[in-house]
Amino acid sequence: MNSAQSQGTALVTGASSGIGAIYAERLAARGFDLLLVARDQERLEAAATTLRTAHGVQVEVLKADLTQKDDVLKLEQRLRSDSSISLLLNNAGVAADGLLANADMDQLERLIQLNVTTVTRLASAAAASFAKAGRGTIINIGSVVALFPERFNATYSASKAYVLSLTQSLNAELEGTGVKVQAVLPGVTRPEIWERSGIDATQIPADRVMEAGEMVDAALSGLDQGELITIPSLPEAADWDAFVAARHVMAPNLSKSKAAARYT
Ligand SMILES: NC(=O)c1ccc[n+]([C@@H]2O[C@H](COP(=O)([O-])OP(=O)(O)OC[C@H]3O[C@@H](n4cnc5c(N)ncnc54)[C@H](OP(=O)(O)O)[C@@H]3O)[C@@H](O)[C@H]2O)c1
Repeated sequence: MNSAQSQGTALVTGASSGIGAIYAERLAARGFDLLLVARDQERLEAAATTLRTAHGVQVEVLKADLTQKDDVLKLEQRLRSDSSISLLLNNAGVAADGLLANADMDQLERLIQLNVTTVTRLASAAAASFAKAGRGTIINIGSVVALFPERFNATYSASKAYVLSLTQSLNAELEGTGVKVQAVLPGVTRPEIWERSGIDATQIPADRVMEAGEMVDAALSGLDQGELITIPSLPEAADWDAFVAARHVMAPNLSKSKAAARYT
């Protein structure tokens, strides 16, 4: 049962720290009940207690390791069966450092599991459930590195390019269903992810690093404005529109019966 004023329940993955914890607070302030998911149950319980008191919403905590298929399947099942869930925030993610040639492949496999496979499975379950209900919101947290893979770790950048592409396709698939879809592409944002992946973020110039609260508020403003893709720090929305338009210019020539003249 939802609280009075409730907008339904927001399922937030990676709600125990950083961007996810801020989203949880902002969504509670908007009247969402919450289902908070991460591995660190103690941190989730502490956040839940604060949010219940501050916002009078219902908050449930669910400990899950989203690199483990059993845990992901349980969450998918919950998304499919709990009609009170009206928003999925696919936020949990990890970064990586170093060159692909020297990488710890087991670590990268876990990254792909969390940043790609789990995001996809949860988005699929939410898309089915929300489309049936004719409402709902799916927010996928990507990254600007999707647009600049040469500047960052290969696997992390590729995982975030996947999130961008998935969101664009999913949005086209869900047209007319009443389900909103958004990908948020943050730049460098303050919280812990960098320390966790061994990256020294203190070297990054301060004017390139956004506070998580400002980033999340901008992302929610983008959602309210109906944006499919939100890049919180980008001053001119027209720059993104031009990037998309450039793809559309190529579209008629991307698949043809003849090779281009320069190859023949
Ligand atoms: N910070 C940035 O500069 C930045 C920039 C662009 C995009 N992003 C994206 O924003 C999202 C959040 O990042 P953040 O900066 O807030 O990082 P963070 O502070 O490290 O938080 C990551 C969250 O994901 C959870 N998580 C990690 N591994 C998990 C697992 N196996 N199962 C379940 N939950 C797991 C963590 O909780 P537990 O440890 O309790 O499980 C934590 O709540 C990520 O998708 C990241 O790629 C961040």
